[in-house]
Amino acid sequence: MDKVVLAFSGGLDTTVCVRLLEENYNLDVITACVDVGQPREEIEKAENVAKKIGVFKHCSIDAKEEFANDFISKGIKVNAVYEGYPLSTALARPLIAMKIIETAEKEDAAAIAHGCTGKGNDQFRFESIIRSMSNFKIIAPIRELNLTRTEEQDYARKHNIPLSPDSKFSIDENIWGRSIEGDVIEDPKNEVPQEAYDWVRSDMEANDNPEKINIEFNSGVPIAINGEKMDLIDLIAKTNEIAGNNGIGKIDIIEDRMVGLKSREVYEVPGATLLIKAHRGLEELVFTKNELRFIDYISPLYSDLVYNALWQEPLREDLDRCVDHMQRRVTGSIVLNLYKGHISILSRESKFSLHDIKQISFEDKENDQREIEGMIKHHGMQAAIYQKQKH
Ligand code: ARG
Repeated sequence: MDKVVLAFSGGLDTTVCVRLLEENYNLDVITACVDVGQPREEIEKAENVAKKIGVFKHCSIDAKEEFANDFISKGIKVNAVYEGYPLSTALARPLIAMKIIETAEKEDAAAIAHGCTGKGNDQFRFESIIRSMSNFKIIAPIRELNLTRTEEQDYARKHNIPLSPDSKFSIDENIWGRSIEGDVIEDPKNEVPQEAYDWVRSDMEANDNPEKINIEFNSGVPIAINGEKMDLIDLIAKTNEIAGNNGIGKIDIIEDRMVGLKSREVYEVPGATLLIKAHRGLEELVFTKNELRFIDYISPLYSDLVYNALWQEPLREDLDRCVDHMQRRVTGSIVLNLYKGHISILSRESKFSLHDIKQISFEDKENDQREIEGMIKHHGMQAAIYQKQKH
């Protein structure tokens, strides 16, 4: 029998896919779970579900460091946020697809499968990578059979497929964030039930006292928290914990999906919220006004590429080069205050700061104030001529 490698999380969609691929497509299923920093239990859940359901072979692939160093770092450098969402799921998809391709090559598989529905963005993200980097046939059972979530649940029950109790919501987790969709959340008229949240405390339960945090950056990438140097992956985990405990990073938005649908999306992104705020705060100190305008102009362009499954676009690579060059001066540290869902900047410093304390000070006499008179006289000259012509 031919083999297929299935991108596998052990959630409802991908678990149902195992049986569908065996029964409807006549394939031996190799399940591959890519570790992009989701909680350890999720990796174990995938292993256990694969074992219980009896797959041909299961593999866990550790891609945590790569995800942090080659994908999230790019997102931080360009402050990547799409309609309020720091792209946690979107940034991980290309890497997951790349790892699945590698596995399929190693296992000499005939095809690659994913559990995406036909309504979301992830099908585009997986398939654009698979098509641009390989010639594997792609199978998307849930989409091809037009299954609803309830139909999937019924199918699972009939086929004795183990279901986890959290299968009510569709959840995608990695180190950069937790995406929550489905069930009552689908309707924007409904409030998000407290049980949907896991990473971020409610304001009521958040720490009672404000917490100061010092984040140090080197060339646009965070390298230390409160003076303690750590790898990016550990640093992100730490900020998730600290910001989450302070109620920071709950996002509840109406998002414009690629297929044109509006959807209500809920995210828990404590670390991402904190780190992007800190990074942008440091940029204010070291960038010229023009550089700031430029970074704010390209940030949404870059985010659109990531969101819209265009990681492989040449423009994405071009922007990365440009951003990297700009980021060489985004080095320094920033102190933020975290308190019940709010972040404020307390102080910032950098050896590349363009702020000149001597010149700006009210106490400075060396720079003669009178010298500015000439500049003022000529400022707005064209506007003044225009206004006089009107009368
Ligand atoms: N809307 C987000 C995106 O397109 C998250 C999708 C998350 N998927 C999920 N199964 N909950 O990137």
